[in-house]
Amino acid sequence: MIIAIDGPAGSGKSTIARELSRRLGFEKLDTGAMYRAVAFTALDRGIDLDDEAAVCALASAITIRFTPGESGGSITVDDRDVSREIRTPLVDANVSKVSAYPGVRTAMLEPQRAVAQNHDVVAEGRDIGTVVFPDAEVKVFLTADPRVRAQRRVLQRHGGDVADARALESEVAETLASIERRDALDASRDVAPLVAAPDAVQIDSTAFTIDEVTDQIADLVAQKR
Ligand code: C5P
Repeated sequence: MIIAIDGPAGSGKSTIARELSRRLGFEKLDTGAMYRAVAFTALDRGIDLDDEAAVCALASAITIRFTPGESGGSITVDDRDVSREIRTPLVDANVSKVSAYPGVRTAMLEPQRAVAQNHDVVAEGRDIGTVVFPDAEVKVFLTADPRVRAQRRVLQRHGGDVADARALESEVAETLASIERRDALDASRDVAPLVAAPDAVQIDSTAFTIDEVTDQIADLVAQKR
């Protein structure tokens, strides 16, 4: 079985995919981490991100692997662990440029589909229900109020404990600007844009906890079994 979870930045996809895969015993596939890995590696190797051919060649040449484990597991590029490096503001600011290149998307597609060959999967991203797994048995499009998404991101970064409320407020404003910019780029690109599949169940998580949203999706899964 494939569960596809798509949605904008910070809507809770990763946390919910992790919880759901743990409960159901499914593999988890974080496709955003793969696009982040391409962006990070291009920046790290000094490749000009405007050079589409060079970025696409890089995406085809590298090997990206996931190793499951505590707090989301790890991701490697050609055996180098880049789990932390892909989560920086620099990668946040550049990943949408890289992920809009059709050649990059083609290079990611086959390894993404390969994960589902021998496993039940919870896959999360922007185009899972529309392009990667259009026949997924369960499709969810997860949204939340943009300000709430920014607040959750900041609290996650600080381990949920923020001492200085004013520092938090400016960080929330910065994060909000960053995720809105990324959503606009992801939604407006020509290939595999951020859009709900026509048959996706839309869940607005603004007023729900992680457990409540996970319960809702688990109910959808139970109906399909
Ligand atoms: O999910 P996350 O926020 O880590 O995704 C990072 C970026 O990767 C997105 O902003 C988007 O540009 C790209 N992405 C994509 N298609 C996916 C998943 C992520 O284009 N399926």
